[in-house]
Amino acid sequence: MYFDIEKLTKTFGTRTALDKVSIKAQHPEMIGVIGRSGAGKSTLLRCINRLTDADSGRIIVDGTDLTCLAGRDRRLWRARCAMIFQQFNLVPRLDVVTNILCGTLSRRPVWAGLFNFFSRDDIDRAVELLHHLSLEDHGLDRAGNLSGGQQQRVAIARALMQNPDIILADEPIASLDPRNAEQIMQILHDINRQENKLVLVNLHSVDMARRFCDRIIGLRQGRVVFDGPVDALDDRAVAAIYDGARADAAMAASVTANLEERHDPLSA
Ligand SMILES: Nc1ncnc2c1ncn2[C@@H]1O[C@H](COP(=O)(O)OP(=O)(O)OP(=O)(O)O)[C@@H](O)[C@H]1O
Ligand SMILES: [Mg+2]
Repeated sequence: MYFDIEKLTKTFGTRTALDKVSIKAQHPEMIGVIGRSGAGKSTLLRCINRLTDADSGRIIVDGTDLTCLAGRDRRLWRARCAMIFQQFNLVPRLDVVTNILCGTLSRRPVWAGLFNFFSRDDIDRAVELLHHLSLEDHGLDRAGNLSGGQQQRVAIARALMQNPDIILADEPIASLDPRNAEQIMQILHDINRQENKLVLVNLHSVDMARRFCDRIIGLRQGRVVFDGPVDALDDRAVAAIYDGARADAAMAASVTANLEERHDPLSA
């Protein structure tokens, strides 16, 4: 899949959420998007899956400009990109298997969903995913009764049920304890590697981005201020993403060596 975002801009009133954002991805990479609260991370994902309309710019996927899609074509595109959210977005009173099967609804007629009609193949695939995500003991549990880590695994299974080309994850580990957070990142990483799917994941944790992503995009006030391989994300780059003014001053004074000690960007 060839993925090319060109000068994507989105404003809300006087606020610019995305400012001429350009990102190219030619391989199914695992891309971490980092930046302060309000930097535009969620807006970027929402523009890609067309939950939000950009003001200008283009998102070209395999030659088609997604920003022009409407009606059925837009729905078909949404089926190709699965979203994973911080708050899991499951149907809490439905059981786990049914939640997973809901992943098929993006490519099936609405009436089939209304009557809870799922094909044998769909059910087989859902059971396979239950095992794959170590949820086999919870298939008939109400989703709302599971732990956060388990619920996020159900959400990932639902996303995979959709058989997407791209996975968009908006802070998927922000509500999880460190152990579960690591497990979810590992699962996303495995999906990227084993199933060749482009994964775009918004993260608050620079450490997690470093450990699990191939490439990092840093957003600050709606602009891409860093785009490079994970190895290139040094302390100076992190400071530029989280606090540009302070980083510029630090660079000018050539005192970046001990920047990390003095300034933890995440607690700022
Ligand atoms: N629906 C909306 N209406 C008005 N302003 C919005 C809307 N959605 C986003 N914004 C604004 O756009 C900017 C970018 O918001 P966005 O949610 O994309 O940031 P974010 O990087 O995801 O932040 P966070 O880390 O807190 O989730 C912010 O200034 C936000 O207030
Ligand atoms: Mg957000």
